[in-house]
Amino acid sequence: MYARITGTGGYLPEKVLTNKELEKMVDTTDDWIVSRTGIRERHIAADNETTSSLAEAAAREAIAAANLTPADIDLIIVATTTPDQVFPSTACLLQDRLDIHGCPAFDVQAVCTGFVYAMAIAEKFIRTETARHALVVGAETLSRITDWSDRGTCVLFGDGAGAIVLSASDEPGIISTHLHADGKFKDLLKVPAGISQGYDKVRKSEAFMHMKGSDVFKVAVNTLGRIVDETLEANKLQKTDIQWLVPHQANTRIILATAKKLGMSMDQVVVTVDKHGNTSAASVPLALDVAVRDGRIQRGDKILLEAFGGGFTWGAVLANY
Ligand code: ACO
Repeated sequence: MYARITGTGGYLPEKVLTNKELEKMVDTTDDWIVSRTGIRERHIAADNETTSSLAEAAAREAIAAANLTPADIDLIIVATTTPDQVFPSTACLLQDRLDIHGCPAFDVQAVCTGFVYAMAIAEKFIRTETARHALVVGAETLSRITDWSDRGTCVLFGDGAGAIVLSASDEPGIISTHLHADGKFKDLLKVPAGISQGYDKVRKSEAFMHMKGSDVFKVAVNTLGRIVDETLEANKLQKTDIQWLVPHQANTRIILATAKKLGMSMDQVVVTVDKHGNTSAASVPLALDVAVRDGRIQRGDKILLEAFGGGFTWGAVLANY
C-alpha cells in the first residue's frame, strides 16, 4: 500500500504587509529585503484568527479537492510552531472545527521542517494500513512570535496554512522520506521562552524569534545540498528525473542554491516566498497547493519537497504527484 496526495489546499490571511509598510516600522528598505531574501510581501493573521482557524480553511479546501468529506478523514497531523494553546493540540482543535470525532489527531513540532516530518509520519500510518485518508496540515501564525521592532527577523516571516490529503493507493505516491535533526544548533534559531522554564521568568524579548541569520544561511545551504544527494542516491535517480522542486520558502538565495545543486532551471522550482514570506511549517504545502492549482504540477510528475528549520531539523519527501 502506498500513500498518494489526493488533494491540496491553502489559506492566507486577507491582510497583506508590504516591504514599503515595513520601511515605516523599522530601519529597512524594500531594496534590502528583496535583494537579501526575495520577499516583497507577507500575509498577517487578523486578531480573531488563530493557527487552528487558518488550518481549518486550508484543510476544508484539501478535503474538497480530494473529493472527500471530513467524515472520510481517519488521521489528522498538524505541523506547527505556533499552536493556539499549550494544549489541547492544534490538531484536536482542528478536529473539533471539522466536526470529526474519534480518529487520532496530534501535532508535530519540527519548526520549518514540520510539514515534511508530518508527511513522513502520515505515510507510515497509510503504508501499515492504519489510516486510509490522512489530513496533513502545516499552519502558522508566526506574526505572534515576531518582534516587530527587530529588523533582522520581522521582515522575514508571514502567516498562513497549507494542507494535503494523503490517501491509500496501489500506486506510489510517496517514494521515499528522509528526516534529520541536530540539536547542537539549538541556539542559532529559537524562541527561548518555554513552559517548563517558567512563565514567571519570561522576559518579553524571549517570547520572540531570535536568529543568527548568516550562520543559519550557511548551514541551510550545505544541509539542503546534502539531502538532495541523499534522496537521489536512495532511489538511484538522476537529477534530471525530478520534474519539480517544492522547497521551504525562507529565502530565494537558499532556494537558488538548491536548484543549482539539482541542475534545475528556476522554471522547475515553485517559489512563493516573494508573496508569502517564510511561513515555517505552512510554506511547503502552500507552495505545493499554488503549483497544483495553477496547473504547473501535473499527475505523475516526480516532485521533491524539502525543508530546513529550527532545531536544526531538515528533511525531504520524494513523490509522484
Ligand atoms: N534591513 C536593512 N539592514 C538589515 C536588515 C534589514 N531588515 N536586517 C539586517 N540588516 C543589516 C545587519 O544589521 C547587518 O548590518 P551591519 O553589517 O552594519 O552589521 C547587514 O544588514 C548584514 O546582515 P547579515 O545578517 O549578515 O545579512 P545576510 O546577508 O546574512 O542576510 C538574512 C540576512 C536575510 C536573515 C539571511 O542571513 C538569511 O536569510 N538567513 C537564513 C534565514 C533562514 O533561512 N531561516 C530558515 C529557517 S527559519 C525557521 O526555521 C523559523
